[in-house]
Amino acid sequence: MHHVTLIPGDGIGPAIVDATVRVIEAAGVRIDWDPQVAGMAAVEKHATPLPDETLESIRRHRVCLKGPLTTPVGGGYRSVNVTLRQAFNLYANVRPALSFEGMDDLPFPHVDLVTIRENTEGLYAGIEHFIKVDQEKIAAESIAVITRKGSERIIRYAFDFARQSRRKKVTLVHKANILKCSSGLFLEIGREVAKDYPDIEFDDRIVDACCMQLVMKPEIFDVIVTTNLFGDILSDLAAGLVGGLGLTAGANIGTDAALFEAVHGSAPDIAELGIANPTATIIAGAMMLRHLDEPEAADRIEQAVRAVIKEGKTLTPDLKKGSKDGTNAMTDAIIARL
Ligand SMILES: NC(=O)c1ccc[n+]([C@@H]2O[C@H](COP(=O)([O-])OP(=O)(O)OC[C@H]3O[C@@H](n4cnc5c(N)ncnc54)[C@H](O)[C@@H]3O)[C@@H](O)[C@H]2O)c1
Repeated sequence: MHHVTLIPGDGIGPAIVDATVRVIEAAGVRIDWDPQVAGMAAVEKHATPLPDETLESIRRHRVCLKGPLTTPVGGGYRSVNVTLRQAFNLYANVRPALSFEGMDDLPFPHVDLVTIRENTEGLYAGIEHFIKVDQEKIAAESIAVITRKGSERIIRYAFDFARQSRRKKVTLVHKANILKCSSGLFLEIGREVAKDYPDIEFDDRIVDACCMQLVMKPEIFDVIVTTNLFGDILSDLAAGLVGGLGLTAGANIGTDAALFEAVHGSAPDIAELGIANPTATIIAGAMMLRHLDEPEAADRIEQAVRAVIKEGKTLTPDLKKGSKDGTNAMTDAIIARL
């Protein structure tokens, strides 16, 4: 029996997390779920977006499946996702982008790349402030923190990941031509670390050129390793290449815990409609099962999801225009495939 913290999240979160729990149970894996709140749901219940009980539960179980959390834009509380990543040292954000058969209208049918994003430093270090004169905001500063330790750790993670998953190449993405200190240090460390992995090809790319190449020749990429902000953007771009945010998942792996979630957010525009695509969170659940050493169940779940998408019958409207099938119907179809 595994013990896992379960955070349903905001907006579409509860529906897609519930779908994932149903699929994992149908696959026969026994999990003792410990439901906890965070985000808006926690503000309503406990007047804080991240209650101590939630942190304590993750600390105890060391594995968490999480729905998306709403973060107020501009003001309001700080992103709970960023706080969780820092609290549990979830330094590696691993986001695979693998094409789905049946998504025939996409320009590239055979995308298979993994973005590995540094998750705790860079521009998301949370060091920012306004500069005020007579209460007027005349400027704002956000500081990107790149440390030798953090960079070496994520770059080694990417090379080790490439080795373990039998991938051939690691591409380091940076902006060292302009950000000569922060991006420059990351690149310098990448070149040093690469020497310890002679069996893995290494190259580097400037982030803007990388964006263009991703949308023209995605097949030249295998494993991408990059700093926090670039990784956030590039992994969403890669998600778009394989059919959108509703399909891709991410693992946040750290020294103290591991947290699994969809790449997308809480989708407030469709929160009440029952039409959220559960795929990304179910794939996140499969990634979690691999982490829990349940690879067979993980493979079966991924194959069932892929089969339902390939068949194209019971899909949410983001995958099939005009479809009347919602989250529950698609989840039932996946369970039937198991
Ligand atoms: N990991 C997280 O918790 C996370 C990640 C990203 C955004 N967010 C938060 O989510 C909120 C909304 O953000 P946003 O609107 O920029 O991004 P979003 O990902 O929630 O939505 C973007 C678009 O994609 C659609 N979409 C997303 N997931 C879908 C799904 N599973 N099925 C069908 N359609 C789906 C939405 O309807 C919307 O049109 C914000 O508060 C943001 O901070 C949280």
